Amino acid sequence: MAGDRTVTTPNALPMTALWWQTCATYQVYPRSFQDTNGDGIGDLKGIEQRLEYLEALGVDAIWISPIYPSPMADFGYDITDYCGVDPRFGTLADFDELLAQAHARGLKVLLDFVPNHTSDRHPWFAESRSSRDNPKRDWYLWRDPAPDGGPPNNWISDFGGSAWAWDAPTGQYYYHAFLKEQADLNWRNPAVQAAMFDVMRFWFDRGVDGFRIDVLWHMVKAADFPDNPPNPAYQPEMGEMHRVLQLNSTDQPEVLGIAADMRAIADSYDAKGQGDRVLIGEIYLPVDRLMRYYGRERAGVHLPFNFQLIDAPWEARSLAKLITEYEAALPPGGWPNWVLGNHDRSRVATKRGHAQALVAAMLLLTLRGTPTLYYGDELGLSDVAIPAALVQDPRELREPGRGLGRDPVRTPMPWDESRNAGFTAGRPWLPLNTDWPTRNAARMADEPHSILTLYRRLLAVRRAHLALSIGDFALLDAEGDVFAYERRHNAERLIVALNLGARPHRLQLPGWASNCRLLLSTLPGEARAGDAAMLLRGNEGVILTSD
Ligand code: GLC
Repeated sequence: MAGDRTVTTPNALPMTALWWQTCATYQVYPRSFQDTNGDGIGDLKGIEQRLEYLEALGVDAIWISPIYPSPMADFGYDITDYCGVDPRFGTLADFDELLAQAHARGLKVLLDFVPNHTSDRHPWFAESRSSRDNPKRDWYLWRDPAPDGGPPNNWISDFGGSAWAWDAPTGQYYYHAFLKEQADLNWRNPAVQAAMFDVMRFWFDRGVDGFRIDVLWHMVKAADFPDNPPNPAYQPEMGEMHRVLQLNSTDQPEVLGIAADMRAIADSYDAKGQGDRVLIGEIYLPVDRLMRYYGRERAGVHLPFNFQLIDAPWEARSLAKLITEYEAALPPGGWPNWVLGNHDRSRVATKRGHAQALVAAMLLLTLRGTPTLYYGDELGLSDVAIPAALVQDPRELREPGRGLGRDPVRTPMPWDESRNAGFTAGRPWLPLNTDWPTRNAARMADEPHSILTLYRRLLAVRRAHLALSIGDFALLDAEGDVFAYERRHNAERLIVALNLGARPHRLQLPGWASNCRLLLSTLPGEARAGDAAMLLRGNEGVILTSD
């Protein structure tokens, strides 16, 4: 394939690095990226308008959160037609145009695939709930009440409350892992599998380069629906879903077969000479269980999302441990990936602070594997406080005040200093970040030391130095708040040293004395190298080369 490069893997076997292994992916939350029709909601034409920005940023692929027709109970993760585009976002023709324009710029396009559940207004569910003997009854998960008339078991929705909704006309409950407006499909039913695999082919045939698969680990539930065990560590502020451990409602062995079937569909396109397509699974599980989604006898998803950096303690030794353990746990041929944020989790600038957001950017873009960036993180956007009257997210509305709401991380992209930061000519669906007059893309692109400029430089350095994406990874000895590692590919050797604290640190670099050169620092001014040691300033990250 164009763009693929022959490389040497850590165990010195020659292989071809595929586009999804060297690429940096950028997540676009379409409601909040760019509005072109003044309704205050972003759209596909808006994304198309901003491809130039994404190309200049230096990312290689975009993943677009759901754009399908939806009542928007969960902002597009409740779908009524898997093969269409919601009019709020545009038309199928707009999508085709966006795809063509992205491809013309060398950008891959990934869509969000939401196979676990449909909207309760999907025609399949309307049929399914119409009577107990409807042919589609078994497309969803219907159960009789418990003997006391209550829900069939103790499973709790991820958005709080029982995960079972009562349907009086047919006298049964249906299961919903999220809202009651998001009914879970029965993936043990071969007809459901066939229909959803057709959806994948529909988009692959149009030319999409891959899917991010929503809540992949939720897709199959224990066949006889036993209760989930109580969670001994439960605290109310965690959210009600954590009252039980989701042992029986998620991560069942049969889901791995489904992931393998999906992979076979993706792989069939490369086999036909139509290019590699990639599958990225959204999976929140401990590392040992996460690794199984790479597949064993049969290949699973290419990239089971690795979310560990989002929650990790921001401390040098813990990060070193987490990263080496993850690397060690990868199965043969399993390709690593890293994420700092997404549309469900607090932003990195809020969690780590503005000074460390720069260091975090360097970490994300210099670890071995495929990084995914969340829109706006390249501007250092923070979580935006949403006044109660403007709250949109059902997660916040159902369990208010616990900090579970996701609106703060979904606010409009601030583009420039014009009205509404250039996001919309209308009223933005969520408020902008209050600092948008200075924290916006146009302004920061002109500032030599903005976080945006750093992201651009990092992405350029990463492209120019294959060692950063695919080279071997080895930890270096470091003390205190410093976390340092070496990336090596063929003759090239790079060092990344990150100061996770505010105090300066002297970093010993034995064997790196005379020929050591600074490739990039997160801070302005000259970093000082030489004499087999270098002084790292507080909150500074550097990439060094030995050529
Ligand atoms: C995933 C999505 C999230 C959504 C949920 C239900 O976790 O990322 O936004 O609410 O699935 O589809």
